[in-house]
Amino acid sequence: MSTHKASGRITIRQLKEMKQQGEKIACLTAYDVSFAQLLDQQGVDVVLVGDSLGMVIQGLETTLPVTMDDMVYHGQAVSRGLSRALLIVDMPFMSDASVEQAVANAGRFMKQAGANMVKLEGGADQRELVSTLTRLGIPVCAHLGLQPQRVHKLGGYRVQGREDAVAEKMLEDARVLEQAGADMLLLECVPAALAKQITQQAQIPVIGIGAGVDCDGQILVLYDILGISAGKIPRFSKNYMQQAGDIAEAVKHYVDDVKHSRFPADEHSFQ
Ligand code: KIV
Repeated sequence: MSTHKASGRITIRQLKEMKQQGEKIACLTAYDVSFAQLLDQQGVDVVLVGDSLGMVIQGLETTLPVTMDDMVYHGQAVSRGLSRALLIVDMPFMSDASVEQAVANAGRFMKQAGANMVKLEGGADQRELVSTLTRLGIPVCAHLGLQPQRVHKLGGYRVQGREDAVAEKMLEDARVLEQAGADMLLLECVPAALAKQITQQAQIPVIGIGAGVDCDGQILVLYDILGISAGKIPRFSKNYMQQAGDIAEAVKHYVDDVKHSRFPADEHSFQ
């Protein structure tokens, strides 16, 4: 069992109030205690231990090989650095292949890694799992739009929801998952107008990455905003180190930009 802090963290209830009051939610990924502490101190509201660690920590080509043990290890480290930010841990590929497996794995994140919420990819087909986790007291963030764990099925990393049928399905997925008990939605690489519609329809906070400025909050991969990710930084991200003296200043600048709707600009969004 890990030692972790959770008492003073932002709650789901507070995030919902922020949505109602129009206060933007600033989120970033982190994978270790030092960055977690720095993000917490710079006012990041939500920290995600994303399975993007497969790429930015492990040097893999996709998130698919990331394991439960990897996620628990990094979750524990990040949890030890957080006093204020809510902690979400990503369910890795195949960890939710059945409801039984997913319940055991999500429970492990809550018990061993100090998670306040788990994130899982998938649409309305995840309804039963989301309602089971909700019944057990495990908060869920449902990840819609581009789902990197389905990269082979999707045929590449591409914007999702440009066609009417796909957009309608995403609106319906969002509705169904909220009804099933999801406490947060995350939209990745979704046209800004569709993301706005989903955000207006939802009572729960909607966080965007490449989904336009009208979401309730924004998330980016930490190493992209620090300009140190291997490979090209995605179009929807921004290198905040270019105008900062140090990492803390870069993170603070990102948080301020999200809070004042200065990020994302049109150049970071999709039509
Ligand atoms: O794994 C991750 O870091 C994510 C973000 C891209 C939202 O899911």
